[in-house]
Amino acid sequence: MTYNFDEIVHRWDTDSIKYDAPKTEGYTQYIPMWVADMDFRTPQPILDSIQKMLENGVLGYTLPPTLWATTIQNWLLKKYNWEIEPQELIFAPGIVRGLTFAIRCFTKPGDKILIMSPVYPPFFSVPKRNKRKLITHKLLIKNNQYHIDFDQFEQDVKLCKLFVLCNPHNPGGRVWLKEELEKIASICKKHNVLVISDEIHADLTLPTHTHHPFASVSQVAKQNSIVFMAPSKTFNMPGLVSSYAIIPNAELRKQYATYVEDLDVASGHMFSYRPLIAAYTECDAWLEQAINYIQGNIDYVRDYLANHLPRIKMIEPQASYLIFLDCRELKLNDQELRDFFEKKAGLLLNPGITFGPEGSGFMRLNIGCSRLILHKAMEQLEAAYKEF
Ligand SMILES: Cc1ncc(COP(=O)(O)O)c(C=O)c1O
Repeated sequence: MTYNFDEIVHRWDTDSIKYDAPKTEGYTQYIPMWVADMDFRTPQPILDSIQKMLENGVLGYTLPPTLWATTIQNWLLKKYNWEIEPQELIFAPGIVRGLTFAIRCFTKPGDKILIMSPVYPPFFSVPKRNKRKLITHKLLIKNNQYHIDFDQFEQDVKLCKLFVLCNPHNPGGRVWLKEELEKIASICKKHNVLVISDEIHADLTLPTHTHHPFASVSQVAKQNSIVFMAPSKTFNMPGLVSSYAIIPNAELRKQYATYVEDLDVASGHMFSYRPLIAAYTECDAWLEQAINYIQGNIDYVRDYLANHLPRIKMIEPQASYLIFLDCRELKLNDQELRDFFEKKAGLLLNPGITFGPEGSGFMRLNIGCSRLILHKAMEQLEAAYKEF
């Protein structure tokens, strides 16, 4: 079956954060290309699984079906050749919440936590809100890609209790190599630093790149990490907040499980489980085509920028549908850059500065949309650029 990703699904006035939240802040005319969900219709088997529950007519308390864990086990084996045991899985009501639980479970107020900047904003806000001290490792850009300076990384991480890794990286879209992950694992082990790996974008790894779940790269990594994954980004179902942690180390797992059970946050609502099973068992063809369409959109933006807006460059994503646009040649400060996109071009993107000081001069573009909308957005951007 061929899926139509060109279809424009009407999302205005559906309480969508991406579409409707800006209106509450006074925005009127804009194309929303910020919050990371896609505009594609969620695959039909996922919608059907919800419909089936609705048709039963009772929205009662719901068990995680035993199939939930074995389905995830099979998915990880199929996608990453990663063997896990069902008991290594713990449900998480969203990954940001999972990160919060892990940080609170494994560190105390005042403890130091390492992140790599630029990075997804909650990596900053969650430790800060929970009164942990943040240490940031500054990623380097070489050949339009983010890189880790491992000597500096070791200096930074050795002060810390915990390291939160974004794998693949958001906003840069970098898929970390196995060797890089092995190095992170051994440095963290040497300094007794626990690794939390957020892998929400993993399943959207683009053709020619290979994602390695952190805990799968070595025994050291396996015994000293917690990996968070979800079908949320993959199948465009983040509103279902149906995520999970994989914790192969039994002691860490016991500690984390006790923490989330004590808070009574270890179980989901009734739509948390069956849609994940449908996603992981009935949507392979959809995902393959979605990834190809996303790659097509990335190619389109790269060519458009090169031909029409040569002073805006992009960090080439290796995973997912977010492009970090390097606008530093425009020589605007961060407020001016934001105004340029919003007021001159009518486009709402995430300002790079919200991903940390290292994101200054960048804007994050969400291209998980119909090519027709993307074309319109690029034309608007070009018109603003010409007036510039
Ligand atoms: C790296 C990363 N982690 C977590 C999330 C959000 O996850 P959740 O909605 O499950 O909390 C996002 C969403 O954009 C993300 O990019």
